[in-house]
Amino acid sequence: MTWRKKAYNVETLRQLAKAELPRPIFDFADGGAEDERTLRRNENAFDDYWLVPRPMNGAADRDLSVEFLGHRYSIPLVIGPTGLSGLFWPDGECATARAATAVGAGFCLSHGSVCTLEALADTKAHPRWMQVFLYRDRPFTKELIRRAEAANYDGIVLTIDNQLLGKRERDLANGFTIPPEFSLVQSVAMLAKIKWWWRMRSELRRITFGNYVRPGKKEDIKKLASRMAELLDPALSWKDVDWIRSMTSKPLIIKGILSANEAEAAIHHGADAIVVSNHGGRQLDGAVSSLDALPGIVRQVDGRIPVLLDGGVRRGTDVVIALALGATACLLGRPQLWGVSVAGEAGVRHLLEIYAKEIDTAMGLCGVGKIADIDLSLLANRPGNS
Ligand SMILES: Cc1cc2nc3c(=O)[nH]c(=O)nc-3n(C[C@H](O)[C@H](O)[C@H](O)COP(=O)(O)O)c2cc1C
Repeated sequence: MTWRKKAYNVETLRQLAKAELPRPIFDFADGGAEDERTLRRNENAFDDYWLVPRPMNGAADRDLSVEFLGHRYSIPLVIGPTGLSGLFWPDGECATARAATAVGAGFCLSHGSVCTLEALADTKAHPRWMQVFLYRDRPFTKELIRRAEAANYDGIVLTIDNQLLGKRERDLANGFTIPPEFSLVQSVAMLAKIKWWWRMRSELRRITFGNYVRPGKKEDIKKLASRMAELLDPALSWKDVDWIRSMTSKPLIIKGILSANEAEAAIHHGADAIVVSNHGGRQLDGAVSSLDALPGIVRQVDGRIPVLLDGGVRRGTDVVIALALGATACLLGRPQLWGVSVAGEAGVRHLLEIYAKEIDTAMGLCGVGKIADIDLSLLANRPGNS
């Protein structure tokens, strides 16, 4: 059976990726912080909602497109920022970005990509956003934003939930390091992962944090990784957001909002959109799940700016539920990494087509012809109604 036939949903794609990747690399993506309670709840929160189909509404043709921040997307999905995608497949970020554009989804590049933001821009993937952190080294943050503007990115994503690094215990157990180094036992176990080794044989030496390497300088990735950790700034405040806002006229998207108060403040400080997110349960374990946080935030924002959501979105019906609760679109974190690990660009394209088909089927069965018609009336247990 071909990988396409085996991967008929997101979970089967994840299983294929698990079989493909060395354990420490699979766990680096699959795992979360501490006891992974937030990671699990992100996925399980969708089980609390039930859809009420309206079959007699007759939705013969479904239009999955949605417009926000000046672009029309063919599906309400954006590839979220994930650092080191190039560890999963050679040139993983560019492969993923090309797939997103081919299917009409958005793409956001992580600050911690293996390729440089300029190399990603050369793929002409569009629309594309650049994700940054606010570092102690403010000039470096400014430099990244300037470079993203010069490379014609369509938006700047400021992630605010990474001011310290979460305690990811699978990485500790596996002795995961950047760059990956494998123990003798791990190396023997990895003989079974020969396809990944072969594919990555010349890449592994080149793995780096592309955006941090100074032109003309050869920097050791180990030194870069520790420099990045030291640069994180727990003293982050809204004043810093004002500083970023004043620096760019690009749409500013704040990622990592989990409360109505912070959403209000984000609007006040000039955000053009927010992402309701807990970093996929990789940072604060015990943080409220994105879906649980969504209704209160949507009420507060009241349509003033787009509200995006990520965390645990694994099915087309999950997207429909998030949209019914008021999200404009969803971001995908781990699922894109499963897609790229299995078959590079074709794997991510296949993943996005799975979501598109599932969203389309759910809309058809619900009797909904367009995204704008997905609303609270589709849910049996509406927030405040249960
Ligand atoms: C391997 C990995 C790396 C990530 N790197 C970043 C990053 O560099 N910047 C960021 O804002 N979020 C990062 N995230 C978080 C994702 O953007 C997203 O918020 C989260 O994965 C969504 O949850 P999901 O994986 O359940 O879809 C990363 C997630 C993973 C799995």
